[in-house]
Amino acid sequence: MTTNSAGNRPQTTVVLAMSADGKIADAKRSPAKFGSANDKTHLERQVAKADAVLFGATTLRSGGTAMRVVDPALIAQREQQGQPPQPIQILASKSGNIDPELPFFRQNVPRWLITTDEGGKNWQGKSQFDRILVCQSPTGETDWMAAFQQMANLGIKTICVLGGGELIATLMAADLIDEFSLTVCPLILGGATAPTPVQGEGFLQNMAPRLELLSWQAIDQEIFLHYRLKGRGGDGEMGREGEEGEIGSRGAALRQRGAEGKLTTDS
Ligand SMILES: NC(=O)c1ccc[n+]([C@@H]2O[C@H](COP(=O)([O-])OP(=O)(O)OC[C@H]3O[C@@H](n4cnc5c(N)ncnc54)[C@H](OP(=O)(O)O)[C@@H]3O)[C@@H](O)[C@H]2O)c1
Repeated sequence: MTTNSAGNRPQTTVVLAMSADGKIADAKRSPAKFGSANDKTHLERQVAKADAVLFGATTLRSGGTAMRVVDPALIAQREQQGQPPQPIQILASKSGNIDPELPFFRQNVPRWLITTDEGGKNWQGKSQFDRILVCQSPTGETDWMAAFQQMANLGIKTICVLGGGELIATLMAADLIDEFSLTVCPLILGGATAPTPVQGEGFLQNMAPRLELLSWQAIDQEIFLHYRLKGRGGDGEMGREGEEGEIGSRGAALRQRGAEGKLTTDS
C-alpha cells in the first residue's frame, strides 16, 4: 500500500476480482469463485498486509465466511511486524440483520460490526462481535467519517475493502477509498443486475474519480491492476492517448505469462 494524503484516517485499498466485462458476481450474486489460484494468493497477501478487512453484509450473506490469512509465512510476517495473526474482520450492515448461524461466527478471527442505532439493537448483549461501532448520521445513514475516525483511534491504520459494490459506492462517495487492486479474470458474466465494483448512482464522466495506474502484472489468463485514486474528473489529467500508447506498446509482453510493469509519474 502506498502513502497518500489521507491524514488521520485509515488508508484503504479495495481488492476485487472481476470478469472482463466488469462484474464482481453473477446476476444471482453467487459467491465469487471465478478467480484463479494466483488471484487467491494475491488476495490473501493483500489481506495479510492490512490491520482490518471491511466488507458489506450481502458479501457475507453470499459467501458465509471471512477471508482469513492461512499461509503460515504471512502470519509469521504479520507477527514480526507487531500485528496480530489475523486482521480484524469488520462487517458493514445498516440493518444488523445477519444470521448468527453463519460459519463466519465460528471462524477464529476478531469480528467487529459497523452499524446504525437500529442495527446495533440486534446484537446488544451478544458475544458474536468483539466490538460494535454504532455510527449513525442525523439522516439515519452510516456516518463513515465518524466510523473511520473511531477505527483510527482504535489503532487501525490500513483497511482492505473486499466489497461488494454497494459498500464501495458509499465509501467512494465519502472520499474514503485510496487505492484499487483489481484482477481482471477471463470470463464474461453479463447481466444488467449483476454487481460491479462500484454500484450506487455512479458518476457523470466529467466528474468521475480519476485513477493513476501504479503497476500491472499479467499472469496466465489474468491481469492484476493496481490503481491509486488521484482526484475527481474535469482536471484534464486523463491523458488518454498517451496512456494508451504506453500500455499499447507493451501489448506483446502482456500476452506472455508473467509480464509485469511499474509505471512512474512525475506527480
Ligand atoms: N469478485 C469479488 O472480488 C467480490 C468481492 C466481494 C463481493 N463480491 C460479490 O458481490 C456481491 C455483493 O455485493 P453487493 O454490492 O450486492 O453488496 P455489498 O456491498 O456486499 O453489501 C450490501 C450491504 O452491505 C451493507 N451496507 C452497504 N453500504 C452500507 C453502508 N453505507 N452502511 C452500512 N451498511 C452498508 C448493507 O447491509 P444491510 O442490508 O444488512 O443493511 C447492504 O445491504 C456478492 O455476490 C458477492 O459475492 C464479489
